[in-house]
Amino acid sequence: MCYLNHMMSGKRLVVLSGAGMSAESGLKTFREMGGLWESHDVTEVATPEAWRRNPGLVMRFYNERRKALLEASPNPGHTRLAELERFFDVRIVTQNVDDLHERAGSTHVMHLHGELRKARSSADPSLVYDIDGWELKMGDLCARGSQLRPHIVWFGEPVPNIQDGIREAEKADVFVVIGTSMQVYPAASLIYYVPDHVPVFVIDPNEVNLHEDHRIQVIKMKAGDGIAELARRLGVDLG
Ligand code: OAD
Repeated sequence: MCYLNHMMSGKRLVVLSGAGMSAESGLKTFREMGGLWESHDVTEVATPEAWRRNPGLVMRFYNERRKALLEASPNPGHTRLAELERFFDVRIVTQNVDDLHERAGSTHVMHLHGELRKARSSADPSLVYDIDGWELKMGDLCARGSQLRPHIVWFGEPVPNIQDGIREAEKADVFVVIGTSMQVYPAASLIYYVPDHVPVFVIDPNEVNLHEDHRIQVIKMKAGDGIAELARRLGVDLG
C-alpha cells in the first residue's frame, strides 16, 4: 500500500521503539539469543529489591551499559527517523534508555524507562542529574546527601511517563513499532490506544507476537532498512 505524499505531509507519526532500534549501533537487546537477560538475572540488576540487596552490582551493570553507549553512535535507523521530521510531526516514545535518537537529531523523544546518562536521588526522584562520563559510584550523592541511583525505571516500579505515551498513541495519524518484542507492559499496551482508523507498521527482522489486526503492516527488516521502506510506503523520498 502506498500513501500519497500530500495526504500524509505534516501528519503525526508516533513511534514506539525498543532495543532492536539500537542493535545496529552495537547495543545488545534483552530477550534475543545473546541478549542482556541471558547473561544477567533481571531480578539481580533491574529491580528495587536488587538495589537494596546489592547496589554495587546494580551500579556495575548500568556502568557497563553506559560505557557501551558512550562508544556507540546512532545508526541509519535513528538518522532516518530524524530525517522524517522534514515530512511528518514525528513523536518518539522509546523504551530505550540510550540517547541515540537525540544524538541522531530527533527533537521529540520521550523515554518510558529512564535515561542511562542520568542519575537521580534515591531520596527525592525529582532530583535528576547528568552523569559526566560512564561511571556512577557508590558515595556519589544528591544535593540532599542521598546516594545517587541510575535514572532507570526498574521492574516493579511505576512508569511515570506512561500517560504522556498514551496521549501520543491516541493522537497518532500513523503508528510505528520498531525493534521491540512487545512483552513489557505498560509500554506494549500503547498500541491499544491507537485510534481504529490509523495504520500501524511493525519493523522487526523477527516475528513479533502481536494480536491479529488488519491495520498492521509488518516490515520484516532491521531498523535501518525498515525505516527506509516505511518512508517509501508513506510516499516520501529520504534521498
Ligand atoms: P527485546 O530484547 O525484548 O526485543 C528486541 C526486539 O528487537 C526483538 O523483537 C528483536 O527481533 C528486534 N530486533 C533485533 N535486532 C533488530 C534490528 N536490527 N532492527 C529492528 N529490530 C531488531 O527488547 P525490548 O522490547 O526493547 O526494560 O524490551 C523492553 C524492555 O525490556 C526494555 O526497555 C527493558 C527490558 O527489560 C527495562 O529494563 C525496564
